[in-house]
Amino acid sequence: MLKGTVRRPDAQTIPVSFTLNGKPQDLEVEPHELLLDVVRDRLGLTGAKRSCDVQVCGACTLLVDGRPVSACTTLAFEVRGRSVLTIEGLAENGTLHPLQEAFIEHGGFQCGFCTPGMILAAKALLDENPNPTEAELKHFMHGNICRCTGYKKIIESIMAAAKKLRAKNS
Ligand code: FES
Ligand code: FES
Repeated sequence: MLKGTVRRPDAQTIPVSFTLNGKPQDLEVEPHELLLDVVRDRLGLTGAKRSCDVQVCGACTLLVDGRPVSACTTLAFEVRGRSVLTIEGLAENGTLHPLQEAFIEHGGFQCGFCTPGMILAAKALLDENPNPTEAELKHFMHGNICRCTGYKKIIESIMAAAKKLRAKNS
């Protein structure tokens, strides 16, 4: 079973300030501590999942300054001064993000393991390119793997959310 970072009581630490879902965080982290472990184990946000642990599957995707990163291979001190978004920070005032709604409405929400990373990667895409072609979408999302059911409904969900967001922003 894969385990998180082992913290040593006598280890040197680095002060790290960043925002997490809009809220300031000030932590002392060890140099080898991974962002995924800090977010999940120390800050209690378990939406991002550990799966491959080697930056292949996308299950641990978080947005750092709006860009998707694999939290399993990002050192926690690397987010100093940056803005980190997890799936827990996507809904606003109790209202789901259009991507979250679309994943529910169009069957993209197939499992809880890949979905948080899929939705965050899709957010980064639509923030950059609100009207992607299906080919552009597939290319951008190639780092997020589904091992169980397939991509059709995930793609349909992201395309539906893109349409909804364009209508909302026009
Ligand atoms: S767990 Fe990080 S990319 Fe797979
Ligand atoms: S791994 Fe989540 S739907 Fe396939």
